[in-house]
Amino acid sequence: MTDEFDPHALDQKEFLEQVHSFEFWFQAVEGYLTDRPYGHREDTPEVELDEDRRENLITTLCNYCVGETAALDGASGMVDFAPNRHAKIFLATQAVDEARHLEVFLQRIRGLGVSEPEIEIERRANPGLVRFKRRLHDFVAARDWEAAIFAQNVVLETMENTVFRAHAATADPITAEILDGVIKDERRHLGFGENDIGRLLLERPEARARLGELRRELDPLVLGAFEGAQADLGTARAERAELGREYLTAVERLGLT
Ligand SMILES: [Fe+2]
Ligand SMILES: [Fe+2]
Repeated sequence: MTDEFDPHALDQKEFLEQVHSFEFWFQAVEGYLTDRPYGHREDTPEVELDEDRRENLITTLCNYCVGETAALDGASGMVDFAPNRHAKIFLATQAVDEARHLEVFLQRIRGLGVSEPEIEIERRANPGLVRFKRRLHDFVAARDWEAAIFAQNVVLETMENTVFRAHAATADPITAEILDGVIKDERRHLGFGENDIGRLLLERPEARARLGELRRELDPLVLGAFEGAQADLGTARAERAELGREYLTAVERLGLT
């Protein structure tokens, strides 16, 4: 994304052609992926974490892996039934992003001394997040575009955007740098979701009731996962409530109550 890029200056067709393209994607990722193997600069210092903090960080990263795997499976599965070619192309770029996120988080877990991250992910996964992942999988398996794009590119992306930003502010330098690059991608994914759902609601206002219902089903899973993740990070209860509110405000921007 170059600094001059202004999505609002484009009409809808231009927007779709330019933003939903690998060309746009290359410009977007170039700045923060070049010279950053596994998402961080090689000379970023590793700080010594005490045992509790290290343990909690591993649990948090394991849960990030659950979310990233859900999005990788979801985005790649949705390519097959996306409503148009631009959406297919965008989802292909998203699948690449999500695979990269999964890879850098797995690598970070290994860097913290875990030799078998897969086993730890199974052990430490938050039940709410696992249920959310299963629901997203159901929507994709049913080729249900509006439910899948809403669950993945609005609900999940909003949650990730909120949690990752809060975490990056207090994380050790390597984790913070990794999160910084991931957040930039998640913003793009959220933008796609908001744009797509926004258009869908204009074309089919009757979809609002169903999306509102889905939101009521998915919110508790997401907010439960928040509680878990933030407890791992040692965040105070008041701050956790604040994060939950931030998430709800973001989802409500779409007018779904
Ligand atoms: Fe991601
Ligand atoms: Fe994403």
